[in-house]
Amino acid sequence: MKFLRLLLVLVALAALPPAPEAHAGERPLPDPVEGSRLFVRKGCVVCHAVDGEGGKIGPDLGRVSTGRSLLGIAAVMWNHSPIMTERIKEVKATRPKLTPEEMANLFTFLTYTGYLDVPGDPKRGADMFRDRGCARCHGVGGSGGGIGPSLDRFKRYVSPISLATAMWNHGPQMQTMMQQLGVVRPQLSGGDIADLLAYIRAAGRGGPEGAIYLLPGNPQRGAQVFEEKRCATCHGGRDAPGGIGPSLRRTREGQKRGLTEVVALMWNHGPAIWKKMAELGIPVPSLTGQEMADLVAHLYSLHYFDEPGRSDRGRDAFASKGCAACHGPAGRGGAGAPDLTKTLGKASPIEIAATMWNHGSAMAQEARTRGLPWPNLEGRDLADLVEFLRAGGRKK
Ligand code: HEC
Ligand code: HEC
Ligand code: HEC
Ligand code: HEC
Repeated sequence: MKFLRLLLVLVALAALPPAPEAHAGERPLPDPVEGSRLFVRKGCVVCHAVDGEGGKIGPDLGRVSTGRSLLGIAAVMWNHSPIMTERIKEVKATRPKLTPEEMANLFTFLTYTGYLDVPGDPKRGADMFRDRGCARCHGVGGSGGGIGPSLDRFKRYVSPISLATAMWNHGPQMQTMMQQLGVVRPQLSGGDIADLLAYIRAAGRGGPEGAIYLLPGNPQRGAQVFEEKRCATCHGGRDAPGGIGPSLRRTREGQKRGLTEVVALMWNHGPAIWKKMAELGIPVPSLTGQEMADLVAHLYSLHYFDEPGRSDRGRDAFASKGCAACHGPAGRGGAGAPDLTKTLGKASPIEIAATMWNHGSAMAQEARTRGLPWPNLEGRDLADLVEFLRAGGRKK
């Protein structure tokens, strides 16, 4: 069943038009279709399943990627690298080398299969539906509401992105109604929207019609939607300087990053966005669920490459995680480990992550020889380390 779904997704993805040429100086956007091919070609599929289908030697990767940034996935892979390397030897396969582009494509594929149906908590969703005031206007399963439409039709939708899209499209009218009835407009996080949908799916009334899935968002198509729906006018794009809305190319410090977080941000900032649109005479764009999924994928792919790390924290992590034991306190090389500041000073985060993966097996060997523990990293540590290495081992 799941495999069929994955196949369907892959077939649909493969039918997309080819990636547009990247403009000079722009990194090409990651391509999930190419990522799915790499998953097979690089032999990951021998050991890993994605959503149930595939090898059983390693864990199913359909879930690891949920809510993780690209560097977050790279960190998880780094942490498991020594054991993975052992297993690869046991099955007499070769440990795949990855170029930065390959790594980005592969992880983009994993991210999009992982977020198809972010699981929500129906109980939490029920409480929220009541406490945040949705129940005052909306009915679910025949009870409550009456002011707004019944939300039972969302029972069939699997992705929180679908619910969020309908909320965006009806947002301005809902806001007016909330003002009239004195309902405080709730602020939501991506997790909240998944929980709300889980509640509707559990409690909603409806026949046994088929579930409606979204295809994984495609960052390249999302880039087109971003231009066509005029998001670029305010946020900056190919020909527009932006500056009217905040730049969406960088996640702010402390901001949660996950595919559904972006739609939650759009909901939370909705009233301010619509006000600006009215001022500039830009109509509020209506989006289909698929367009929203593509948009989100596009924004997410921009964020991927700009995860904000800090070199001062990176310097601390370099020492506390044990990198300094081999590479020296400033990364300038130590006994037997190379100087990291020379080659990596200009590298992008994903280039550094790919380099670390490619040298991981030799590093694990060296750690075993010296009796050093393998440094365990979080996505944030990796972002900080990358900043530190890019700053040439200086605090900045
Ligand atoms: C020979 C088998 C094998 C191959 C090939 C392999 N892996 Fe793994 N992988 C494993 C095992 C076993 C683990 C669990 C290691 C542990 O427990 O520390 C793992 C763990 C992981 C994890 C962490 C998962 C989690 O839930 O924490 C990621 C991510 C990952 N592998 C990605 C990949 C990718 C991407 C490829 C292809 C480039 C790949 N692996 C190839 C065996 C393999
Ligand atoms: C003050 C009343 C009110 C509140 C509170 C309210 N809504 Fe609405 N909602 C409406 C109205 C009215 C519409 C229809 C707007 C239109 O016709 O464009 C609507 C439309 C929607 C739609 C689109 C329905 C469809 O079939 O496409 C969704 C989804 C939705 N609301 C979800 C929510 C959620 C989730 C909450 C709580 C976080 C919420 N609403 C809170 C009044 C409200
Ligand atoms: C008319 C100008 C305008 C247009 C068009 C516009 N936005 Fe915005 N956007 C804004 C403003 C202004 C804010 C900040 C609102 C605030 O401060 O609450 C914002 C905020 C956001 C945020 C939250 C950013 C953050 O980091 O907190 C997201 C996400 C977003 N917009 C996405 C979009 C998307 C996607 C589109 C196209 C469908 C779009 N916007 C179209 C003006 C616009
Ligand atoms: C046990 C010693 C040891 C530890 C601990 C260690 N490394 Fe290494 N590292 C090495 C060795 C040895 C090499 C060269 C491997 C090779 O030739 O393939 C290397 C290579 C690298 C490279 C590739 C350099 C290049 O120019 O291609 C990077 C990047 C790197 N390490 C980063 C790190 C980071 C970041 C940490 C901490 C999370 C770390 N290393 C921890 C020993 C270590």
